[in-house]
Amino acid sequence: MTLRVLTGITTTGTLHLGNYVGAVRRAIAASREPGVESFFFMADYHALIKCDEPARIEASRLQIAATWLAAGLDTSRVVFYRQSDIPEIPELTWLLTCVTSKGQMNRAHAYKASVDANVAAGEDPDAGITMGLYSYPILMAADILMFNAHRVPVGKDQAQHIEMARDVAQRFNHTFKAELFVLPEASIDEEMELLPGLDGRKMSKSYDNVIPLFEGGAKALREAISKIVTDSRLPGEPKETEGSHLVQIYDAFATPAQRQAFRAALHGGLSWGEAKDQLFALVDAEIGPMRERYDALMANPEKIEAILMEGAAKARAIAAPLLARAREAVGLRRFQPLAAPVAQAVKAKSTVPAFKQYRESDGLFYFKLLAADGTLLLQSAGLPQGKEAGQWVTKLKREGAAALDGAPVSREVGDELLLPALEALVAAELEAAAAKG
Ligand code: TRP
Repeated sequence: MTLRVLTGITTTGTLHLGNYVGAVRRAIAASREPGVESFFFMADYHALIKCDEPARIEASRLQIAATWLAAGLDTSRVVFYRQSDIPEIPELTWLLTCVTSKGQMNRAHAYKASVDANVAAGEDPDAGITMGLYSYPILMAADILMFNAHRVPVGKDQAQHIEMARDVAQRFNHTFKAELFVLPEASIDEEMELLPGLDGRKMSKSYDNVIPLFEGGAKALREAISKIVTDSRLPGEPKETEGSHLVQIYDAFATPAQRQAFRAALHGGLSWGEAKDQLFALVDAEIGPMRERYDALMANPEKIEAILMEGAAKARAIAAPLLARAREAVGLRRFQPLAAPVAQAVKAKSTVPAFKQYRESDGLFYFKLLAADGTLLLQSAGLPQGKEAGQWVTKLKREGAAALDGAPVSREVGDELLLPALEALVAAELEAAAAKG
């Protein structure tokens, strides 16, 4: 079983060098590891909670998408999409909202911090607080549970949200007696976002100490680096490298040998000015080529759009069947007679299509799906192994239409007949499982 790793980036503003080192570069490297299936998405519904300026929202999601692509995200290996392109997410959010306790949301850090600030200012505790902010953790839980992610790499500030997602998943599974959702785990990287800014504090927009990643080109990068605060030792004087944030930034881009040489040069009296030139050269060697790709992408937004639409299709192929199961679990089902339990089971059976598995004289194994009235819905090709036929049947029963892609079957009827039949099949399978458990 592959490990599913999922992370989202709220699309407000642009990314800086600290985001690149702490999140983007790390996540792209992790996505190349074998046995990992990665999901990256632009959390643009979350962005709406923080920002009501459409132009900023529009710019930021485009810039951030271009940044990830330019930095080398391989979209053939990862599922890369915009949250707002997946209608299953807000729908799942509502199902989860209905099992989330309000008391737990009262304790969410982001909400509590806003309340505390209001109280401190002598205002009404909920002044200026939207339901979006209040429900933020539920939307985030839906992001994660929608894809049954095992692991969620986040900064420390987000750890509580992952705990909440676990709780919500557990409550849903328990309430509806369905093992529907994987309980996700946070993977907190202590080093994450620890790149220091110009003044030595954590690099952050709110401290106004950032080094831009692509914005403003090489010129802006050079200018920002020239503003890194150092001590006032003169050229020729030995420099202290321990605790120097200029050295820390250098380290984030350097090989061990380069780190050693840089320290030696500073100890030997390299001027801070020259050190900054070297830092610029080092950083630009890594991000310069990315910047070119970034500029090219930003000049062709339709290319990014196409990539994201493909990503959305991949994501929805996973989200739709899970949402169908969640709807089924809570009772949002296709109408059928509500007779007494036994009669209902008998009735239900008679409307559900059935698989037939058989072997032909050619020695191959076949299966077909027949509607309750005997209409042929799906016909398989001949398969050398009986087991394989059985596995496809199981998969189709569990996942319905989502399993059609790649299945060795031909569709014998149109979608208007086939899709409801497959839905009924999945529903019957779920009911049988619920009756057992
Ligand atoms: N809330 C996260 C942040 O601000 C972004 C985010 C939204 C996210 N949905 C997510 C992160 C799901 C991980 C998983 O950083």
